[in-house]
Amino acid sequence: MAKRILITGAGRRLGKVLAEHYLAQGWFVVAHYNSACELAEHNNLSCVQADLSRRDDVQRLCDELPSFSQFDAVIHNASCFIPDTSASDTLQHFELHYRVHVESPAVITAALGPLWSDQAAMICISDIYADIPNQRFSAYCASKAALQNWSLSMAQRLKGLVRVNVIQPGPIQFLPEHDDAYRQKVLSQSLVGKELGYGAIVKACDYLLAADAVTGSVMRVDGGRFVANRYDQTFTD
Ligand SMILES: NC(=O)c1ccc[n+]([C@@H]2O[C@H](COP(=O)([O-])OP(=O)(O)OC[C@H]3O[C@@H](n4cnc5c(N)ncnc54)[C@H](OP(=O)(O)O)[C@@H]3O)[C@@H](O)[C@H]2O)c1
Repeated sequence: MAKRILITGAGRRLGKVLAEHYLAQGWFVVAHYNSACELAEHNNLSCVQADLSRRDDVQRLCDELPSFSQFDAVIHNASCFIPDTSASDTLQHFELHYRVHVESPAVITAALGPLWSDQAAMICISDIYADIPNQRFSAYCASKAALQNWSLSMAQRLKGLVRVNVIQPGPIQFLPEHDDAYRQKVLSQSLVGKELGYGAIVKACDYLLAADAVTGSVMRVDGGRFVANRYDQTFTD
């Protein structure tokens, strides 16, 4: 039987690239999406829609999981990235981030309880800003930090059953709307000095899914940006 992976937020961008990668590797992919799924139809692909900020949608997604029998891997990738200034209601703003980044991975992971296959692995996609304050995106950063801490608790709880690791991406891939000035600024804060591309995260996922000695780890894939930030803060002109 083909290996099975659930990827949340797989309708576009990184999640879509991950889904296409694992399809190309011969996996069966259950691709969760929210508003739109850009994945082309494939015999080994099943797409499931759910707004992860809605508890009834999360429950419906969980209810569908047993129909896929078993899972070898899960990547919790879905994310919302909304600046605090766009929020008119602080409670709603925090609830949205918390539900998408923490509550829904927790509920989905609990539902996967009887469905894990032998030597399964789970990856949670966090952000280097889980460990760096950012007053413009405090709800995003705080909820990514919570996702990270919850992931490490799951590494404990699921020991011997599922390896659980975290990837902290830095800025991954520029969007068409990013102008030259923005690109140069971002690259100047990177130690590798080049756009990472979604492929950098795909490589990290491949490593963590195969690395049977690795669980409870947090892997930065940021081109050295976290360290570069610290350097700038410590040694200003
Ligand atoms: N891109 C970067 O430079 C960067 C940097 C650091 C960390 N990361 C992390 O890496 C991961 C992938 O990045 P990305 O840029 O590809 O992410 P993204 O496009 O911002 O979000 C990933 C997916 O999450 C889905 N999503 C948003 N709100 C949702 C909701 N309420 N319910 C269910 N799904 C929802 C989106 O679907 P819809 O569009 O349909 O809502 C989207 O397809 C994310 O976890 C992100 O936080 C990315």
